[in-house]
Amino acid sequence: MSICLEGLKEAHGRPWPKELITLGPEESAQQMVLRRIQELSDSGPQDPFMLADLDMLASRHQAFCQALPQVSPFYAVKCNSSPWVLRILAALGTGFDCASQVELEQVLGLGVAPSRIIYANPCKPASHIRYAAQHGVQLLTFGSEEELTKVAQHYPGARLLLRLRTQDSQSTFPLSTKFGASLEACGHLLTSARDLGLAMVGASFHVGSNCQTPQRFTQAIADCRCMFEMGRGAGHDMSCLDIGGGFPGTEDSGPKFEEMARVISAALAQDFPEERGVKVIAEPGRFYMESVCTAAVNIIAKKAVLEPGGSQKLMYYLNNGHYGSFRLGHREPVPRVPIVVKEFCSEPPLFPCTLYGPTCDASDRLFLEDVWLPELDVGNWLVFPSMGAYTSSMSCSFNGFLPATICYTMGPQLRCLGVGVEEEAGNLTLI
Ligand SMILES: Cc1ncc(COP(=O)(O)O)c(C=O)c1O
Repeated sequence: MSICLEGLKEAHGRPWPKELITLGPEESAQQMVLRRIQELSDSGPQDPFMLADLDMLASRHQAFCQALPQVSPFYAVKCNSSPWVLRILAALGTGFDCASQVELEQVLGLGVAPSRIIYANPCKPASHIRYAAQHGVQLLTFGSEEELTKVAQHYPGARLLLRLRTQDSQSTFPLSTKFGASLEACGHLLTSARDLGLAMVGASFHVGSNCQTPQRFTQAIADCRCMFEMGRGAGHDMSCLDIGGGFPGTEDSGPKFEEMARVISAALAQDFPEERGVKVIAEPGRFYMESVCTAAVNIIAKKAVLEPGGSQKLMYYLNNGHYGSFRLGHREPVPRVPIVVKEFCSEPPLFPCTLYGPTCDASDRLFLEDVWLPELDVGNWLVFPSMGAYTSSMSCSFNGFLPATICYTMGPQLRCLGVGVEEEAGNLTLI
């Protein structure tokens, strides 16, 4: 797909807002991406940028709550910890899943009550556990005897969820090789917790990020029911089930969210019927964020090479790559095909193109496979939609290339939900 910049000129001229763009009735986040590209093309520097559509974030939250009304979302901060994302979610009333002291600080700093936070990293540094204790974040996960001992030493008042290993090998990003206890190991861990005087309050699991098989939830929820029975047998008050993340970020391929939600609801009705009074929470990251951000990248260099059979291949060097927003590109099953911002008189021929990032590392490429694109020039822009999950939060400044700046848009959807902004002494705050 290609688009041109003609027709956007009339929007040009208004100064580009520093931080947050409040959209007028006729404006969309997509138009803002093109407007920004136009402005940077006219008067550079043509640095990479991301645009985050905060109305989309509100829509994703509403979709989650509608499909799974019995589940309270605790947004996984690691997925995208941009300040406006966290502020909006705090205003919309989600909980938060934090993985470290810095994430706890960030969320507590927004005034979020500690009871709305879970510290859901099963392997925690002792100093971060002490920080959680000092700030009243009680809910913690663990998956091993060693972690239990550490928690008993540094935070005896914690309320613990035992993380169960899942069968997640078919998810795009499996997690269970690193985290989680087998169901067989749970009995021993539950009695160890009791003997250490620790309060076990429930179970957690993660089916792997971008789960391809909704039935993995069914099995994991059934396993948690067994664990609850074991826990009660050991004298624990098992009252909280955490079904983790793994929900799809887009509807492009793989299972649809609504289908997954139906499977989860059926499993919960079977194993954790509402009358039992178990609180069910989830830790969605990708589902909330993937479609929120669009990345715009610029071609900074180019090389044409002849393949052994005589066919042409193109190499494009972009100003954002593996060390920027595309850290997970190597592990995605298929490369993402960008929207080309260039006008063509007729349908252009396509060539296999390798997309490289800007650093001197030869493995700094966006995807392992080539993508088919027309012949482009240095200075042309490529637009990648659905780039909000595990992108800016994984970027670094390797070789001195700074992470893409993020601009945010806010529009009618948030205003309808009563979320707006106010400027005070040059600072924007949510009202
Ligand atoms: C403990 C934990 N919770 C939640 C998430 C978010 O998962 P997802 O982005 O698939 O929703 C992750 C992702 O790695 C995780 O490790």
